[in-house]
Amino acid sequence: MSTRIETYEQYKAAYEASVNNPEAFWAGVADQFSWRRKWDKVLEWNFTEPMVKWFANARLNITENCLDRHLAKRGSQPAIIWEPNGVDEPGRVMTYAELHSEVCRFASVLRSNGVQKGDRVCIYMGMVPELAVAMMACARIGAIHSVIFGGFSAQSIADRLQDAGARFIITCDGAYRGGKDIPLKNTVDDALQTSGGVERVIVFQRTHTAVSMIKGRDVWWHEEMAKVIDSGVTEAEEMEAEDPLFILYTSGSTGKPKGVVHTTAGYMVYATYSFENVFQPKEGEVHFCTADIGWITGHSYIVYGVLCAGGTSLMYEGIPTWPDAGRFWEIVDKYKVGILYTAPTAIRSLMAFGTDPLQGKDLSSLRVLGTVGEPINEEAWNWYNEHVGKRRCPIVDTWFQTENGGILISNLAGVTPSKTSYATLPLPGIQPILVDEQGKEITGNDVSGNLCIKFPWPSVIRTTWGDHERCRQNYFATYPGYYFTGDGCYRDSDGMYRITGRVDDVLNVSGHRIGTAELENAINMHTGVLESAVVGYPHDLKGQGIYAYVIMDSMPDDEPHTRADIAQTVARVIGSIAKPDKIQFVPGLPKTRSGKIMRRILRKIAEGELQQLGDVSTLLDPSVVEIIKDGRL
Ligand code: WTA
Repeated sequence: MSTRIETYEQYKAAYEASVNNPEAFWAGVADQFSWRRKWDKVLEWNFTEPMVKWFANARLNITENCLDRHLAKRGSQPAIIWEPNGVDEPGRVMTYAELHSEVCRFASVLRSNGVQKGDRVCIYMGMVPELAVAMMACARIGAIHSVIFGGFSAQSIADRLQDAGARFIITCDGAYRGGKDIPLKNTVDDALQTSGGVERVIVFQRTHTAVSMIKGRDVWWHEEMAKVIDSGVTEAEEMEAEDPLFILYTSGSTGKPKGVVHTTAGYMVYATYSFENVFQPKEGEVHFCTADIGWITGHSYIVYGVLCAGGTSLMYEGIPTWPDAGRFWEIVDKYKVGILYTAPTAIRSLMAFGTDPLQGKDLSSLRVLGTVGEPINEEAWNWYNEHVGKRRCPIVDTWFQTENGGILISNLAGVTPSKTSYATLPLPGIQPILVDEQGKEITGNDVSGNLCIKFPWPSVIRTTWGDHERCRQNYFATYPGYYFTGDGCYRDSDGMYRITGRVDDVLNVSGHRIGTAELENAINMHTGVLESAVVGYPHDLKGQGIYAYVIMDSMPDDEPHTRADIAQTVARVIGSIAKPDKIQFVPGLPKTRSGKIMRRILRKIAEGELQQLGDVSTLLDPSVVEIIKDGRL
């Protein structure tokens, strides 16, 4: 597209234009897409309700932008390349023409199964191309998809189904991940025992494991697809710019995960614009994003952004270390990957195996490296740069959040300067500011504060599903007039941004966002637990580990056993990714006289900074601190 920034000078000019006249700037970007009808007004907004509308009254369908409009030029170009978990199984390639046809056929299946515009459809699948097909088939007919990460538990699925009011769920019989065969359909069955309202389960056959199919409720993907007689074009539903495209659940500092709502036009424009400019993809180049599609990174940089830009997206079913730690490099070599986009936690886990797994793998196709999900430590950055990029590939350190839809702060590969462990500069259209605890803007450079954004961008969160007030409270109330990210940030003397981590009660464990409140809820469900408090602590591989302080009704006789039981409870309630790393049994928690848990103290103890606990005199019972210190794990 012609809005591609190619030099640092162009970046500065684009940035300035985007601030001085945002509407003209984004109209120029949006012009590149295919619209059924163009907008009446580019932007209307206030951050108090909040209310944000981009491209009001424009009409479009995102799948026409991802698929149909590419057919003439790119019909036979690979859209999705799929690498299975097992090394012996052949991969698959879907061209734009094939993907278009699959999406149309599955859209027709959805319609014949009763899915209508505006319906919510949950998707709980492994990393198979049909997951992308399912998402786009929903979008094709105007249904709102909500992808649930395949590692979440039945309880988590039930919560999401209920919150979204979904009548449909699409799943697989099972999923291969490393040496495991994960029984997805069974987990869905468990979820549906507690959650009513789901009328239809569509099951894609992947692992051929035995599953129970409930008559009248469950149908096979392949059988339904075979029934589609007219495999031509399923007419795309004409959507309003602000019609919801998807809901994606994410953790916050309070309560249960909330459904972040992204809308059609703004999300499409920003996911595509950020993809093009951050990664600077070349014609026909293979883009390998290793995220799971269950997270926002996968939505934007495996599916929508890449396909809208006419790119080739490589999708990998398995894990970095299966069958050995050379797998990523083998994939890069095999498919001549040009762009590799992964997470610091993956880099750290591969680093631990040294450079042997890299031997004999031709990585010369690599041109751009990317990282996302958590702050990248210098050691990991250097290893990535030296051993993977061979010091010739720019590394983009991309910062964003589920609520943002696309990358907000990052260097542009080979175009703007990079700096180790800095996300560096905002993309055009993004106006970051740092504020102090009182919400006062901190100006100047070489300063730290809480990161806020003061002006809307096209893919800013519109609402949290079914609860607009929660959206306001969470993001727009802490510092009135600004979108608050929940992240701390340092701006160096050159005006470059370095994200330092969450300043709220959200943990980032191996790049997964988990709320401490959610964890405590899960722990407290275990019989015998009276109360718990969870904090994060630095963890070599995971970035942050989960440290739980637990009060039992009586001290357990067999501590390891009880710990394992509690971890199991958490896995059942949330998923295995949320299992605590450390569980310390304590007789009490440090509380203020008003009953508030002093997390600061618990955090310091977990971090091992026992000398710097600060003032404990306001505690109801300061002696408990000594006991907790002594029992530290
Ligand atoms: C963190 C993931 C430092 C941050 C895309 C944010 C990062 C949270 C970076 C969002 C980065 C993401 N450097 N920290 N490059 N990217 N984060 O919603 O704390 O799963 O608030 O979105 O991840 O996590 P989420």
